[in-house]
Amino acid sequence: ARRENEKLRRLNEVACGFYQQMLLQKSVGGAAQQYLNTRGYGQKMAQAFQLGYAPDRWDALLTHLREKGLDIDPARRLGLVRPGKQGRGDYDLFRGRLIFPIFDHYGQVVAFGGRILSGDGAKYINSPESPIYHKSRVLYGLYRAKEAMRRSDMAIVVEGYFDVLAMHRAGITQAVATCGTALTLDHARLLKRYAQKLVLLFDQDQAGQTAALRAMEVALPEGLEVQIVNLAPGEDPDSFLAGAGREAFDNCLTRARPVLEWYMDRLLVAGSGVSEQARGVDEILQRIGLLPGEIERSLYLKQLAGRTGLAEDLLQRKLGELQRSRP
Ligand code: GTP
Ligand code: MN
Ligand code: MN
Ligand code: MN
Ligand code: MN
Repeated sequence: ARRENEKLRRLNEVACGFYQQMLLQKSVGGAAQQYLNTRGYGQKMAQAFQLGYAPDRWDALLTHLREKGLDIDPARRLGLVRPGKQGRGDYDLFRGRLIFPIFDHYGQVVAFGGRILSGDGAKYINSPESPIYHKSRVLYGLYRAKEAMRRSDMAIVVEGYFDVLAMHRAGITQAVATCGTALTLDHARLLKRYAQKLVLLFDQDQAGQTAALRAMEVALPEGLEVQIVNLAPGEDPDSFLAGAGREAFDNCLTRARPVLEWYMDRLLVAGSGVSEQARGVDEILQRIGLLPGEIERSLYLKQLAGRTGLAEDLLQRKLGELQRSRP
């Protein structure tokens, strides 16, 4: 299996190099380069992240592999080349897309993401899972972010490829992206190797809010110090940096808040009825119960008591009940 995986890694290397070359060739990758430029990314960023372009043809990668005399089978196993139906030949997965190679924390290419430049189709597609790519264990940009994470003791999690690029371009290099999946326990543990503090910086839309709630539940039990940053409605880090600029962005970052406080704000809305309030308190208690530290739990209980006017020992008792009834 190790030698098999070695073959898969080597094939990804070859594919990565091919896509990169295609982006640099003006006659092939000109439109993709233009697209990057329009979004404010030049040669330097493309190089740093080894961005590429998959030509808009059915067999560009396939032909390249054949010309190099390489076995096609690993490419099939990686999902880069797919079997044609009914005797038709194999074809490339990525066609006419800007390519983001996905590296593991050792810096090996394990998969690719591809963004459409124009026309219909999914905005992004990704390599499928393979023996060397488990998306629940890989974070985009980690290889380039881990040193800064160690130095600052802080990891910033964003949603998308372009958000990572935007943060790096702005000199904020602790950013990694989950890329279309929820933050998993494996992700949280991976980040904990590098930093104690986890900052959630998700898109300011419904999907992003849901992702933040889930990430909170995964990260709190790990003892990570979880904070959340909110940008203007509808924005993501890339669009906000491009539109509002670095200073406005820094202002948002300095207003990062403990995720539990943000959560309390959401649930303890002024003017809500008694039963709604009671449900809110219950939800909040459950999240406080996720904290591994007793002192921290106690401090949040005090806060919750202060904000609701409920007695602290009542909340304490309720929390105890909740924790005992948990499966
Ligand atoms: P841009 O328009 O390029 O800035 O995209 P974005 O990164 O802001 O995309 P969005 O907020 O819609 O999604 C966040 C991340 O989810 C993307 O970077 C992708 O990794 C992933 N994603 C978005 N759309 C799709 C999709 O259609 N299919 C898949 N598999 N992933 C997607
Ligand atoms: Mn898997
Ligand atoms: Mn989004
Ligand atoms: Mn986005
Ligand atoms: Mn975006």
